[in-house]
Parts: sequence; structure tokens; C-alpha cells
Amino acid sequence: MPRRRAPRGLVGGVNSPVRAFRHVGAEPLLLETAKGVIVTDRNGRRLTDFIMGWGAIILGHNPAPVVRALRERTRRGVLLGLTHQGEFELASRIIRAVPSVQQVRFTVSGSEACLIAARLARAHTKREKILLFDGCYHGHGDSLIVGHSAGLPRALESQVATVPFNHLERLEDVLRREGEHIAAILVEPVPANMGVVLPAEGFLRQLRELTRRYGIVLIFDEVVTGFRLGRAGAQGYFGVTPDLTTFGKIIGGGLPIGAVGGPERLMSLLAPEGPVYHGGTFAGHPLSMAAGCAVLDLLEAEPPYAALQRRLARLQKGLEQAAARAGVPLRVSAIGSMATAFFSSRARFAEWANALRRAGILVPPSPFEAMFLSSAHRDSDIDRLISATAQSLRTMAGQP
Ligand SMILES: Cc1ncc(COP(=O)(O)O)c(C=O)c1O
Repeated sequence: MPRRRAPRGLVGGVNSPVRAFRHVGAEPLLLETAKGVIVTDRNGRRLTDFIMGWGAIILGHNPAPVVRALRERTRRGVLLGLTHQGEFELASRIIRAVPSVQQVRFTVSGSEACLIAARLARAHTKREKILLFDGCYHGHGDSLIVGHSAGLPRALESQVATVPFNHLERLEDVLRREGEHIAAILVEPVPANMGVVLPAEGFLRQLRELTRRYGIVLIFDEVVTGFRLGRAGAQGYFGVTPDLTTFGKIIGGGLPIGAVGGPERLMSLLAPEGPVYHGGTFAGHPLSMAAGCAVLDLLEAEPPYAALQRRLARLQKGLEQAAARAGVPLRVSAIGSMATAFFSSRARFAEWANALRRAGILVPPSPFEAMFLSSAHRDSDIDRLISATAQSLRTMAGQP
């Protein structure tokens, strides 16, 4: 079928490339509403959502306490322009949950938070180079997408080193050669942007040890894992303490947010205390603070993590059994409340994602993204995903 032209006015019909559905050869989907686990499109068609705001939503869409908090904040003023109590309140909730964080600086996106963290590391170490892992994503700051975008200064290439995730030998090689020039190692402790990939046993601990040895700032990008793998994030889950942490997604309760957190000795390098500049008209936005506080309070009062993990195990087992029955190779990588189904080819992934969408189930339209569960998902939602998958795999295998 010829590709329909994307609606004019937005480049590619979207504001973020993955929403264009090009990985699965489909058209962008236009959504209208979201409540609980259900999103509806322009025609009123209901889909069970496993994208969940790309991980920003953990309690289901629009939980009543978040809506109440937003209504109340709106009534009292949407934008105040100066500091307000909500900023201290959200910061104190993060500090209470994540022991490595003594101070917080809020930004408007996770991208911005990662940039500031790298800047802090450079200022602290007086070194320039940043070490990243292939396949990890830290937003679209210039030095954090070297090799993945046009329009970047060539000079940046010499300021970024990249090694494969989970590959200690390659990392040690690079550190032996240039460890003394590296300001920061920035890592997603559980990568979610090449599909979900689990860190090898001891990998994060080794990272901690090596960064200490070479005087490198270890930054955990917990934009996805923060408050998802538990209230203390991946660092709590694996018991490894970074120097700086970046947050985003869940801490904004569905509104735009990012944050950098760490010990005062590093955070106080930020303006106005120190020489590292960061500021923003919308930094610490009152609505994001209000929604974030409402979500973090619910996560503290009734931690959903054990239930999420049980549901994820049901999903993982169900998908793998369906694949084994159909004789289609499929591996499901899963942790906490996030998972990726790895097929043997992109074509098979696309066939699966498109079949699910036709059956009223929305999974990320890219093999490099994670499915996310929320506490609003029920076993019946998981079972529908499994049975629609079983049907699609039988079709793939040429079975009736
Ligand atoms: C691990 C990670 N870091 C940073 C970002 C960037 O966050 P934002 O999209 O809020 O700029 C993302 C976005 O998906 C992410 O997954």
C-alpha cells in the first residue's frame, strides 16, 4: 500500500521520531484520551496501553489523586516564576527514597538532566571526556548523541568514548589508555533503549570500583528506572551507589520533568552556589511538582512493586510459552515492570506489534523500546496480550 503523506504542520506528523511508527511500517496513531490502562484514538477506538508514556506512567493514566493535585495547583496559580514550596516537597520525597541524593536540581526533561550531570562531572574533575555505552540513551544533548545525529560539531567526537554494555574487558582497556582524561561514565543501569537489557552479574559493582580507581564520576541515568525498580531505583535494586543520578518520567507524574541528584559536594557546583550554569523558565514547574508529589506519595503509601513484578513474570512466561508452542524464536527480557520481546528479525517484531494493535493492544512500535506495566494493569490485561501474541505467532509460523 502506498504510504500516506504525514499530516502537514508537524515534521513527519510527530514531535518525537519513535511516535511515527516507521519501525513497524505503519502510520502515526492519533490518541485523544487516556485513563487507567485504556487509551482511545480519534475514532473512539479503545486500546490497552503497554507504552504507558514511555515509562512515565506507573499508576495507570490519570489516577484520581494526581488529577486532584493538578486541579488544586491550577486553582492557586500555574506558573509562579519564583521558587515555591512544591519544589522542596518533591525534592524531599526523592531525597527520602534515594540515599545517594542529598540535593536535587529540577529540569524540564530527562535530556536536560543528563546534560547537566555531565557538565557537573566535567567541572568537578576538570576533565572533558565522557564515556558512554553503545545502545544506552541519555536524551539528545550534543555530546550524548555523538554518532547518532547530524549537525554536531566534529570536535565532540574526541570527547566521547563508547564501549559495549556489559563488556568489562573493553571498558578496562579504554580506562587503562585514557582513564585519567575521563570525567564521567554515564550509564543506564538497566538499559531500556536497546530493548530491556539486564546488567551482567557484578557489572555495575565493577563500574563503581573502576570509576573510584580512576577518579571518574559515576552517573546513573535513572530516567526510566528511578521509582520503577523500587523507590530507590536501580541503585537500590542492585545495591550500587553512583555519584550522581538523573531522573525524569515517573517523578513528574505525567508532566514534563527531569532532575539531577547527588551529594552536596557535587551539587553545590551548580549556579548560584558554584560555577556550573543551569537555569530554566519552567524548571521546577508547579504542575510537575504537584503531580510528582502525588505519585511519589502513592508509591510510598502503597508500594506496587511486588505486584508489578508478579504480573511481569506472568507476561514473560506467557509470551515465551506461546512462542515455544508456535515454534517461533522469541526471548523476553524483563525486570521490575518493564520488558522487551526480542524477535529474530525486525520484520517479525513489526508483524507482532501491528497484529497486537489490530487486536486493540498497544505496544511500543519499535524493537528498541520497553513495554511498561502500571499498577492499573490486571492479570486479564496481561492474558489478552498473551493470547493476541499466541495468535500472531501462529500466523507467523503458518499455523491456522
Ligand atoms: C534512559 C533515558 N535517559 C534520558 C532520556 C531523555 O528524557 P526526556 O525524553 O525526558 O528528555 C530518556 C528518554 O526516554 C531515557 O529513556
